[in-house]
Amino acid sequence: MKTVIISDKENLQQAAEILKEGGLVASPTETVYGLCANALDEAAVKNIYKAKGRPSDNPLIVHIGDLDMLKPLVQEVSPIAKKLMDTFWPGPMTLIFKASDLVPKVVTGGLDTVAVRFPSHPTINKLIKTSGLPLAAPSANTSGKPSPTNFTRVYEDLNGKIDCIIEGDHSEYGVESTVVDTVGDIATILRPGGITFEMLEEVLGKVMMDPALGHKLKEGEVPRAPGMKYTHYSPNAEVIIVKGENDQVIPFINTLVKKQQSKGKTVGVLATDETASLFMADKVISVGTESNPLTIASNLFEVLRSFDDAHIDMVYSLAFKETGIGKAIMNRLEKSAGYHIIEV
Ligand code: TXA
Ligand code: MG
Repeated sequence: MKTVIISDKENLQQAAEILKEGGLVASPTETVYGLCANALDEAAVKNIYKAKGRPSDNPLIVHIGDLDMLKPLVQEVSPIAKKLMDTFWPGPMTLIFKASDLVPKVVTGGLDTVAVRFPSHPTINKLIKTSGLPLAAPSANTSGKPSPTNFTRVYEDLNGKIDCIIEGDHSEYGVESTVVDTVGDIATILRPGGITFEMLEEVLGKVMMDPALGHKLKEGEVPRAPGMKYTHYSPNAEVIIVKGENDQVIPFINTLVKKQQSKGKTVGVLATDETASLFMADKVISVGTESNPLTIASNLFEVLRSFDDAHIDMVYSLAFKETGIGKAIMNRLEKSAGYHIIEV
């Protein structure tokens, strides 16, 4: 298949036509790049799963361009959902609702709920408005790999497999949207993201973290967000997180690096601006500055992919504070490490 490349500076008429005809278009969003299809076209949505190699029971998020597009998709909007929509939409937050009959089962993975997001990024917004369609969109990567936060990574994974890629800037948040279940009495975070626990708590008073978060799933444990049970965000390199105070963690990692190198491994370190010069390894990459966690979120997936470009066998990573967007950062990092964590 020939993939058409369009700049986000162009008008998006051609991309909108492709969507109307049942094609697939990758677009930048404020979180990560998304792979879009008409959410109401079953055949088109099936092709998303095919292009990504994604398990078919992992449901997709439906993206809308204004609040009027929500009504036909859902059975009701709870007071909790209303408050969150008023405060955080458009933006990096996905809400779970009871689905209407209009939403195809291929979108919901057979569940009776549907995930909906109103993104703030002007490009995907324009794409929704120009096509007039609600768009089902997972991250625009091969299933299992770190999500793409720039055009090059989308191209690497999906060129030749989809109809069109819209080229835009590097993603602002770099981690996928916060997924919040609004069906029960208490809002529950199923996936942490850029709209943080603290921000939700301030608006709602009470918020829960899904019990399936923060650990490797036990056998038989069924998470509420089906996506949580799959290996995610894994680079080819083995990732190991080292937790503790920097003055202990840094020499500890340097010792581990030497040991692995003596066994013939090429070893990387995922560091910060503050610490990068203190490591000795085959490749040291700073993911951002500790003084601004958003820089770390924004670069995380790209840095994980860069280690693979450099054919690194093992990566030792610093751990990050789990406040604010730090919860999302550590959630993605822990998954990419398969929960392999050393405490110093
Ligand atoms: O930021 C984002 O959300 C990006 C951009 C493209 O918008 N999209 C994204 O989609 O991350 P995806 O497919 O990679 O992740 C969707 C997550 C999965 O964990 C999935 O299991 C969960 O949302 N999800 C979708 N529908 C659900 C539902 N009805 N109930 C519970 N979880 C659901
Ligand atoms: Mg994804």
